[in-house]
Amino acid sequence: MTDFHSHILPGIDDGSKDVQMSEQMLKLEAESGITTIVATPHFYLSEQGVEKFAAKREAAFEKLKPVAERMGIEIVKGAEVYYSPSLIDEDLSKLRIGDTRYMMIELPYTKLSDSFIREFHSFIGNISSEVTPILAHAERYLRFTDANSVYEIMNCDMLVQLNSGSFKPFSSELKFMLDLLKHNMAHLLGTDCHNTTTRSPNMDIAKKMIGKKISPRCFDKLMYNADLVLSDEVVGE
Ligand SMILES: [Fe+2]
Repeated sequence: MTDFHSHILPGIDDGSKDVQMSEQMLKLEAESGITTIVATPHFYLSEQGVEKFAAKREAAFEKLKPVAERMGIEIVKGAEVYYSPSLIDEDLSKLRIGDTRYMMIELPYTKLSDSFIREFHSFIGNISSEVTPILAHAERYLRFTDANSVYEIMNCDMLVQLNSGSFKPFSSELKFMLDLLKHNMAHLLGTDCHNTTTRSPNMDIAKKMIGKKISPRCFDKLMYNADLVLSDEVVGE
């Protein structure tokens, strides 16, 4: 099983503070049956360049790698790239996930206007020869914008990731997410874990709810999709 979205690398963003906290997070992941974790620390172009980010991420990765290996967990380097039109001028290869063409993109937490959506689609078209985008936690934007604008955003060549914790019972985003899954419009699952308390690894929440509301097979397919992405293969319908 793969956790496709995590802030588990120590001391690099607002996620894990140090190796000890990362180790506790790894234990929780292992208890859920996770064997692969995509590390997606925040990347904000306005704060640092790609090279500096990649160097910091490498140092954090090297610290955690032996700990994860002892627990039989593989960590894959990635990033949660905050959208900026200026990304077009950057070397995006270091922001992609592992050795794949996929890159995770986070949108601004605001109402997504028609002009923004047009600009975003044009950006995606311009990077499409080198990058296939993955929209981070599509359901989170519903707190700031309407569902139609999120559907519009997704209406291009991209994959869609959902957060496990949003599948908790009575979640306001539950219907939206289940609809996406039923229509093969969401492809990947992550915990977006940041720590061991308020935002801890919690893949069991999605596994339970998707199994109950759709089918255990649907959850298995999301895990299989993660394998496809990490092998740089195309995710089918
Ligand atoms: Fe995140």
